[in-house]
Amino acid sequence: MQEKILILDFGSQYTQLIARRVRELNVYCEIHPFNKFPEPDETVKGVILSGSPFSVRDKNAPIPDLSKIKGRLPLLGVCYGAQFMAQNYGGLVEASDSREYGRANLKYIDHDNELFLEIEKDSQVWMSHGDTIIKLPDNFRIIASTNDVEVAGYKVQDEPTYGIQFHPEVYHTTQGLQLLYNFVVDICGCNRDWTPASFVEETVESLKKQIGTDKVVLGLSGGVDSSVAAMLLHKAIGKQLTCLFVDNGLLRKNEYEKVLDSYKHMGLNVIGIDAKDRFLGELYGVSDPEKKRKIIGRVFIEVFDAEAKKITGVRWLAQGTIYPDVIESVSVNGPSATIKSHHNVGGLPEKMHLKVVEPLKLLFKDEVRKVGHELNISPTILGRHPFPGPGLAIRILGEITPEKVALLQEVDHIFIEGLRTHNLYDKVWQAGAILLPVQSVGVMGDERTYESVVALRAVTSTDGMTADWVHLPYEFLGRISSEIINRVKGVNRVVYDISSKPPATIEWE
Ligand code: XMP
Repeated sequence: MQEKILILDFGSQYTQLIARRVRELNVYCEIHPFNKFPEPDETVKGVILSGSPFSVRDKNAPIPDLSKIKGRLPLLGVCYGAQFMAQNYGGLVEASDSREYGRANLKYIDHDNELFLEIEKDSQVWMSHGDTIIKLPDNFRIIASTNDVEVAGYKVQDEPTYGIQFHPEVYHTTQGLQLLYNFVVDICGCNRDWTPASFVEETVESLKKQIGTDKVVLGLSGGVDSSVAAMLLHKAIGKQLTCLFVDNGLLRKNEYEKVLDSYKHMGLNVIGIDAKDRFLGELYGVSDPEKKRKIIGRVFIEVFDAEAKKITGVRWLAQGTIYPDVIESVSVNGPSATIKSHHNVGGLPEKMHLKVVEPLKLLFKDEVRKVGHELNISPTILGRHPFPGPGLAIRILGEITPEKVALLQEVDHIFIEGLRTHNLYDKVWQAGAILLPVQSVGVMGDERTYESVVALRAVTSTDGMTADWVHLPYEFLGRISSEIINRVKGVNRVVYDISSKPPATIEWE
C-alpha cells in the first residue's frame, strides 16, 4: 500500500503548493477538506494542516476534529493550522499589530529540534498572516522566532506535534523544502518511494486489474494530459485501447496531420476523424463566445459518440483528468466559487453510458510531464503549450469563416515557429495569435490598404489562473510583425498584448 501524508485544507491559496513540495520530495500526499477527510489508516505517516483565509477568531472559523490524529501521528500546522492548535489547546491568538506579511528572518532556532535540522540561523521565511500567537498552551514550547514573531515555530512536549507561523511551501522561504523534508522524511519516516517509475509500474498493474479484457476509448487532443493517459493505458492493455483524434477545423496549421502521425509512431491505435465541415457549418454566423463554446462542446460529443459506437463492445471512456481538477476545494466564497468554467465536454460519460477511467487523477501537471518522460513520449508533445478546447474559434473574435481560420493559422504559425527558432518557445507558458474584428488603414507600395489587425499574446503562468505577459525582445517582435504583414495576405497591422491576468484573461473571448 502506498504510504502517504494527509494535507487538511482550510482554504489557503497555498494548499496545493504544500502538496507539490511534498511530492517533489518523492513522498505521496493527498489534499482533503478539513471537515471531510478519511480516517487515517496505517498508510498515513503524518498530517499537515494548511493555512486559511479565515482567522481562528472568526465565528465561522473552520474547526477540524483532530482526535484521531493529534498525539497519534506526526502533525505539522502551517500558519492557520498552527494558530488553530495554539488557540484550541489553551493558548491565545490575537490580531497582530506588528508587520507579519512578507519576508522575515529566523533569529532564534532550537537546533536540537528535529524540525529545524540543517536550517540556518537568519534563514529567510515568508509570513502572511493578520493574527499572531501571543500565548502558547503550557506544554507547547517555542522552537523558532523572528524579530517580530516570537512564536515562529513551536513543538508540543512529548508528542510529534509542531506548528509554524510562516509558509515553508513558498519559494521565498529559502529553506522551506528542507523543513518539509525534516518533517516528512525524518519525523514521519516516509520512504520517498513516489517516483515517476513507481507510478508507472503501479498504475499499469492497477489498470490491468481494473479493465481486464474490456475495451477502452479515449479522446486525444494533442495535449500533454491525453497523450500521457493514452500511453499509460497502451502500456497496460495494448490494442484494447482505441484513441480518437477529432479534427474540428480549429486546430493550428498542420497540427492534425503532425499530431496524428506522431501518435501512430508511438504505437497507439488511433483513428483520426475529419469533422472540419461539421464544426464550421454549425458555427456559421455565431459570434457570441459562450455560444461558440457550447456548440463546439456539443458537436464534439456527438462526433465522438458516433465514432465510438462503431467500435464494438467498448465499456470504458478514458479521460486525462488531473489532480487539480478533482481536489475538493474548501470554498471560501460559497459553493459556486469552486465550479470550473472551462469544461467543454463535461457531459461525455453520461451521454455514452460508459464507465470512466482516469489514470492521471492523482498527478499534478509537472508530474504528468515526468511520467510522460518516463514513458518515452517525445519532448515536443510534453513541452507543448496549452491550447483551448474550442481552439481558434475563441481567437477569431466575432463570426468564424474558413477564410479567417486559414488566415489566423498562418499568422499563428509564423509566431509559434518564430518562438521556436529563437529559443523562446520553452520560456513561454502559452502563446497564440488573435484575429481582431477590426480593419485598419495601411499603405503597401503606392496603395492604400484597409485590412485586418492581429494581436499576439504570450504569457507566463503556472496553472493559467494568473498570468503575466512575456517581455519578448523588441527585435523578435519586430521581425515577426514584418514577417506576418509581408506573408499573410489580409493583415496590415500587428499589435502585442501587454495585459496580465487578472484583470485581463489569457484568451480574448
Ligand atoms: P482564460 O482566458 O480564462 O484562460 O484566462 C485560462 C486557460 O484556459 C484556457 N481556456 C480554455 N480551455 N476550453 C478549454 O479547454 C475553453 O473554453 C477555454 N477557455 C480558455 C486558455 O487557453 C488558458 O490556457
